[in-house]
Amino acid sequence: MDLAQVKQEIASLLNIEGVDSNEAASYVVIPQDTTLGDYALPCFRFAKALRKSPVVIAQDLASELSAKAHPFKKIEAVNGYLNFTLDRNAEAGKILSEVILKGASYGDSDEGAGKTICIDYSSINIAKPFHIGHLSTTVIGGALYKMYKKLGYNAVGINHLGDWGTQFGKLIVAYKMWGDTIDIEKEGMLALTKIYVKFHEEAEKDPTLDDKARYWFKQIEDGNEEALSLFNMFKELTLKEVGKVYDRLDITFDSYNGEAFYNDKMAPVLDELRAQNLVTVSEGAEIVDLSEYNMSPCLLVKADGATLYATRDLAAAFYRKNTYDFYKCLYVVAYQQNLHFKQVFKVIELMGKDWHKDLVHVPFGMVSLEDGTMSTRKGKVVWLKDVLDKAVEKSYAIMSEKNANLKNKEEVAEKVGVGAVIFFALSNNRIKDITFSYDKVLTFDGETGPYVQYTNARARSILRKAGALQDELNKPFTSEELEGLSGKEGEELISLISRFRATVSDAVAKYEPSIVTRYVIDIAKSFNRYYLNNRILNAEEKYVRARLGLVYATHIVIEEALRLLGIKAPEEM
Ligand code: ARG
Repeated sequence: MDLAQVKQEIASLLNIEGVDSNEAASYVVIPQDTTLGDYALPCFRFAKALRKSPVVIAQDLASELSAKAHPFKKIEAVNGYLNFTLDRNAEAGKILSEVILKGASYGDSDEGAGKTICIDYSSINIAKPFHIGHLSTTVIGGALYKMYKKLGYNAVGINHLGDWGTQFGKLIVAYKMWGDTIDIEKEGMLALTKIYVKFHEEAEKDPTLDDKARYWFKQIEDGNEEALSLFNMFKELTLKEVGKVYDRLDITFDSYNGEAFYNDKMAPVLDELRAQNLVTVSEGAEIVDLSEYNMSPCLLVKADGATLYATRDLAAAFYRKNTYDFYKCLYVVAYQQNLHFKQVFKVIELMGKDWHKDLVHVPFGMVSLEDGTMSTRKGKVVWLKDVLDKAVEKSYAIMSEKNANLKNKEEVAEKVGVGAVIFFALSNNRIKDITFSYDKVLTFDGETGPYVQYTNARARSILRKAGALQDELNKPFTSEELEGLSGKEGEELISLISRFRATVSDAVAKYEPSIVTRYVIDIAKSFNRYYLNNRILNAEEKYVRARLGLVYATHIVIEEALRLLGIKAPEEM
């Protein structure tokens, strides 16, 4: 029972003249010294109404309440306080039975019922490399998506594709000139990146190439068949390749409406802005002046009539509001875009839309590799796929060394390698810049994904050894059996297990998946302490079933927490 539940129980027991029971129960506190009780009701609160001293009130209430049926182990009067002691074993039994009954749905809730959350994440750019810089948005967004669903929200995952812009004109020119020198079938996106780089080199010598690029971009805009079919080819190629990475990361989307989708949806929003006199013309361009809010202007239409990234985001926000009537719309995008989102949200506020307050930018820091490589800016691109492959390869080597007889080694290495990368990306407070190291993320004895997966595999191995006894876990535990759980380690582990739902809820409220990462580390550590200090299958016979129940519950919660993070759990490793 948590504080809220305890208050409810106490309210239903109390019957104080002239004092509302719910109000009385609201005074319940967790005492600093819990040796006397887990919860305490300060009785001086009722001295005025009852015209008695707190000491007497506490004594009267203690004898009155103790006579009633109640879920506590003890209700006692101490110095004007009414102290409540929980029946830990009964509590533990209730928690274990709930996990055993519910399995993976343990921790589900309906707190989000009827609420829609749009989450804009990953949002990759067509024909550009899917590099390590996209790791955070993809896995943070993916984790929030699963957590919201677990809490009963209607989550809508949106990949706001970067599928618009002059770079596609450049790519068409490059493809028409050097397309026959590359093998797209074999090299895929890498081939496109090559000719794109070549375009930039050649354009420095021959500026007419840029004019040609502009021409071909205009052809896409005007719906020229050749231009469109080339563009669609680039798009399909990109989506096919990133799709493979998404599968490995367990990432899905409900919508791939990207920037191009908003081509015909910007005009009405721009008209509304103009009608509200929010638009200023500056050197032929249309802007919204935000100087009053200490921001540079939000540029919406260039002098040549071209629209911008912000114009598309403005249209996208309106489209999402109209289509999904969201409760919140999240944008999981690097902190480099802080200003962009502040501007877009401000413009919507100035338009008088009260839902501007439901738009949330969820920023995160940068990921760099130990050797300093990371960004496209430095010209050295680190492809996400290569990072995953290398992590898998290394985990295969570790596995071969640690457990040479392991079956399905390849499959396990995939789960461990990819899981290690995801776990790392979700380990820190998301706003921090982080440095990636293969050795650190793959170690089995740090605060890593493999450590958690290994702990789960250990629990599963105990369950396998228990054989048919596993089927006996459904029956209620007797208080004698539950005695087997008492002790510091057992109590700590059960208390952690009982906090699963609240933890997910907290993570979602702060848009911070690392709260769940931290939590699952704590459970794994707590379980390993328990395992070190308590016998399980060879414990005293009357204790075996409850202890096995604890192992089972731990395994369920670890696996479900990992699933929320996008990580798979091997049965053995
Ligand atoms: N494609 C953009 C980029 O890679 C991110 C888009 C984020 N979403 C948005 N609605 N602006 O920088």
